[in-house]
Amino acid sequence: MSEKATLKIDGKSFEFDVITGSENEKCIDIQKLRSETGYITMDPGLGNTGSCYSSITYVDGAKGILKYRGYPIEELAEKTVFTETAYLILYGELPTETQLQEFSYRIREQAPIHTNLEHHFSGFPQNAPPMAILSAMLNLVSCFHPEVLEVPTTGAEFDRTAALLMSKVRTIAAFAYRMASGKPINHPNPNLTYCGNFLHMMFSDPYHQYEVSPVIDKALNLFLILHADHEQNCSTSTVRVVGSSRANLFSSVAAGVCALWGPLHGGANAAVINMLGAIKASGRPLTYYLSRAKDKDDPFRLMGFGHRIYKNFDPRSLILKKQVHDVLQALNLEDGLLEIAMELEEATLQDDYFISRNLYPNVDFYSGILLRALGIPLNMYTVMFAIGRMPGWIANWQELHDHKLRISRPRQIFTGETERPFIPLSAR
Ligand code: ACO
Repeated sequence: MSEKATLKIDGKSFEFDVITGSENEKCIDIQKLRSETGYITMDPGLGNTGSCYSSITYVDGAKGILKYRGYPIEELAEKTVFTETAYLILYGELPTETQLQEFSYRIREQAPIHTNLEHHFSGFPQNAPPMAILSAMLNLVSCFHPEVLEVPTTGAEFDRTAALLMSKVRTIAAFAYRMASGKPINHPNPNLTYCGNFLHMMFSDPYHQYEVSPVIDKALNLFLILHADHEQNCSTSTVRVVGSSRANLFSSVAAGVCALWGPLHGGANAAVINMLGAIKASGRPLTYYLSRAKDKDDPFRLMGFGHRIYKNFDPRSLILKKQVHDVLQALNLEDGLLEIAMELEEATLQDDYFISRNLYPNVDFYSGILLRALGIPLNMYTVMFAIGRMPGWIANWQELHDHKLRISRPRQIFTGETERPFIPLSAR
């Protein structure tokens, strides 16, 4: 017999199905709650609301586990390149060598952007935030590829569009940086790897071809893999909400970029570096910042700490921390911010406020220090996150359509005025 949950309201009992996920996680199916009882549920921030079934990514926040399509993140980070993990996320299986070659070829052939689209970059002011440029330009891509407005969610047309998006996001990101720095654009080089090509478009100069060091290539692959998906986070949910109106893939991911931008989500990676820099520059003891973070009247929070789901270490932060050390050593670099970051982490591990609330470093805490070591400028950190998250956004958009989900349309409890007599303007 299937498991049921019983709800009692005014002495009347109502039964609801209990759904069990493949990792044994439980959920009460309340889809008929309103029609049967007249009640809705209240869950601001949607912390307890399952909005979909998904077979893409699994997170166990209590144990600090993250898996894409059943593969632990630690293994994917160590043994795959980004395009391989992206293929896994998009298609559900690790690619064969031939499949990976074909996928990489599709991405490579889509790297250039339309000349007229290129002209749009010069319309932005020089200090325009690259996240604003990225979101705007992703929306614009569909104007140059009208065929993608009606993307089937399977088959060759979907394959082409998914590769197009993964490729264009990289080109747009690099061009946004070049424009913002007043430097000439570097067109993509089809002979380079996914990461190598990005680094070339970012850093080559007319008289100096950027040489991609294997250390940097590997570290960038790892960064992108760790960001490739994270189930129903704020930006992915945004992509799904927008996509649920049957908006096209491009406007859906452009909205995802906007959601990612905020400092409580992807914007935290840059905010962490700003915070660590401010701590270093101020010379104040860490206890000063810990007290501020604990003070409810002070808006200051420790950026890069805490997570809606992880109530244990975020496995991505553990991998990143180790990678930061490895990369700094391999490149013979030192970074004063790393010392402060480690001291801060250590201090929170001894502090009751952080212990009792399960606040540990999240993915954004060490990622900025890694990007600094790779030479990525601060205003590009959240853009880097967006490049990494693209396969997750596309796969979730596709799954939404596959499951033929209804339009997203939450309810509310109205707390405003009830009916009021209208007063004419002259009498107010
Ligand atoms: N510093 C200080 N206190 C914190 C922090 C923090 N970084 N994070 C949470 N808390 C406290 C809250 O004040 C709250 O305390 P209370 O119970 O006494 O009221 C408690 O911990 C629970 O926090 P919530 O805000 O309710 O947790 P929520 O799940 O809503 O928010 C979030 C999660 C947004 C990540 C939050 O921890 C935060 O703001 N962190 C800093 C920003 C950040 O690093 N964001 C990146 C997240 S990872 C990602 O999106 C890729």
